[in-house]
Amino acid sequence: MDEANLHERLQELREQIRYHNYRYHVLADPAITDPEFDRLNRELLEIETAHPEWVTPDSPSQRVGAALSERFEKVAHPAPILSLGNAFAFDNVRAWLDRIARVDERALGSDFTLEPKLDGLSVVLHYRDGLFVQGATRGDGEIGEDITPNLRTVQALPLRIPIGRPDGGKPLEPPPYLVVRGEAFFYLDEFERINARLQEAGERTYVNPRNTAAGTLRQLDPKLTASRPLTLLVYQIVAAGGPIPPTQWETLRYLEALGFPVPEAELCDSLDAIEPRLEVWAERRQKLNFEIDGMVIKINRHEVFASLGVVGKDPRGAIAYKFPAQEVSTALLDIGINVGRTGVLTPYAILDPVEIGGVTVRQATLHNFDYIEEKDIRIGDRVLIKRAGEVIPYVIGPLPGARTGVEQVFTPPVVCPSCGEPVSNLPEEVAWYCVNARCPAQLVRTLEHFVGRSALDIIGLGIKIVEQLVDEKLVRDPADLYTLTKEALLELEGFAEKKAENLVASIQASREQPLARFLNALGIRGVGEVMAADLARRFTDLDALATTTVEDLTAIEGVGPNIAQAIVEWFGRPANRNLLEKFRGVGFWPVAEAAGSGDAAQTLAGKTFVITGTLSAPRNEFKELIERHGGKVVGSVSGKTDYLVAGEDAGSKLDKAVALGVAVIDEKALRDLASG
Ligand code: IVH
Repeated sequence: MDEANLHERLQELREQIRYHNYRYHVLADPAITDPEFDRLNRELLEIETAHPEWVTPDSPSQRVGAALSERFEKVAHPAPILSLGNAFAFDNVRAWLDRIARVDERALGSDFTLEPKLDGLSVVLHYRDGLFVQGATRGDGEIGEDITPNLRTVQALPLRIPIGRPDGGKPLEPPPYLVVRGEAFFYLDEFERINARLQEAGERTYVNPRNTAAGTLRQLDPKLTASRPLTLLVYQIVAAGGPIPPTQWETLRYLEALGFPVPEAELCDSLDAIEPRLEVWAERRQKLNFEIDGMVIKINRHEVFASLGVVGKDPRGAIAYKFPAQEVSTALLDIGINVGRTGVLTPYAILDPVEIGGVTVRQATLHNFDYIEEKDIRIGDRVLIKRAGEVIPYVIGPLPGARTGVEQVFTPPVVCPSCGEPVSNLPEEVAWYCVNARCPAQLVRTLEHFVGRSALDIIGLGIKIVEQLVDEKLVRDPADLYTLTKEALLELEGFAEKKAENLVASIQASREQPLARFLNALGIRGVGEVMAADLARRFTDLDALATTTVEDLTAIEGVGPNIAQAIVEWFGRPANRNLLEKFRGVGFWPVAEAAGSGDAAQTLAGKTFVITGTLSAPRNEFKELIERHGGKVVGSVSGKTDYLVAGEDAGSKLDKAVALGVAVIDEKALRDLASG
């Protein structure tokens, strides 16, 4: 290709990546698979590496990798970044309207937008000639901090507006200067994933998604920000160098048309119309994958909104209706300790059961031993508990005023509560570990993972039975499962002929599972479902993988030096080698599926899926499974959807699928479809 053609190709690639990124992160409706998307990015990088002089700040390649900075520069906002007054009951909302109608009586006949109040961090984004040039925190409302490199890593943030229109229609022309405001936050499942990773690495976990978002955005190292998938919703135009729509509702539509992710909002023509919607949202809130702490009611017409003015930092034209806090206080009866698969000890609160948002909470996480000390949480304290969405509830802290003097300071254990061996910690880490390789609690967790749905998927082998098997010493490592006999199982409580037979059969059936699942099952640090599939594609048998080198591994895309090191170390450890030999001995030696083809069978090619409800694993894992097999996952159900994968508590998507006659399947049926 000559230079001119190459440059053209570069621009075409950027256009495509921008568009597909938008489909994925803003519309949640991807049009191509992840591997296809990766290919486009790789080609872009190749061209840019050969031609660094062609790199522009709005290139999709520029989202990551900015250098570490010393401190944040100050940015003056073009207009004050205001806050909101609060209402805690609907009467307060009515009183608000009466009050502001005395300032401008047009408020009385006004219509309103109703928007979720996102519990994240306000950010202010500057665009010049359609290019994202600067992003800042709210700061004191007048002056914020320049966090541009960090914001560039947020995939939902358009680096350039407008986004190309898929129908090739004439794109909207943004004003030459546009400053918008939005909220950056984490999806709850991402938050849990970050914490799970931190915990496994023995590092300090985050207390809640909001703090995580704050910590992530105010990172001086954008690479760290990039490693954590923050997202964004934009809801306001702060300043513009040209005409903007006259109402908030149209502003949201306009921002959306430019390519910004906008919150789902409603247009209501009176307060009476709003009241029932608040209840609907209070209900929906429990199911959302992000935290909202209320709903924002805004006077729709900008002119009226502006004429109402500001009191202190709160515009009169809007109010936040706060949901009842998902926080309650209860007695901390005791502190329990969980021993994880890697031996990490995690304290949790054993609570006097309380109801929060319709769910009875009996336990809550205490993060780590330092947290208990820092917050001075004592056994017998009244503690404040918070629950949001599906996230594990956590202890916010004690209510020291309620102390009676009988509370007891907690001392971290010096021995493992499961095996009684001394615990140890690493100087750099907050976590304490049980380092006994034969610790029964670790074995239970190891087995739980081994037989789990994303691993060997042994049906009928739940945690209770795993515990029984370990307690009765019938199983000392995962390979022992394969020599379990019906007779041995019959000795266990609760086992009759049929149940024992079924369990033996389903364990034996798992011998057919492909290498990828087996590798995931081994629980090597950093090797999850996706990585295991990548490895199985490269190494068709275990022997090849067991003798590989860090160098060979890092040559595989997506395998960094840390994971490569962890893999090599895992296979180097004598205990693990013995375990593998034991598997060989029992005749379970999995091989890669579809050997030679290199890729998973494209059993789902051409099929469109929507995933909803609570599943046994994060949704992403199912999405990856579908995409690996050539299927596509979209965000909403339509006549074009082939299957709705519905977990527990599926809501409106399920109703819609049923109404449209879309096939509704569960996880198991999905796996069956995928395996052909
Ligand atoms: S409007 C004049 N809309 O809530 C505009 N704020 O407690 C005033 N927030 O600082 C803000 N979602 O960070 C607005 N849909 C939404 C919002 C929202 C979240 C945050 C924002 C603000 C805080 C006020």
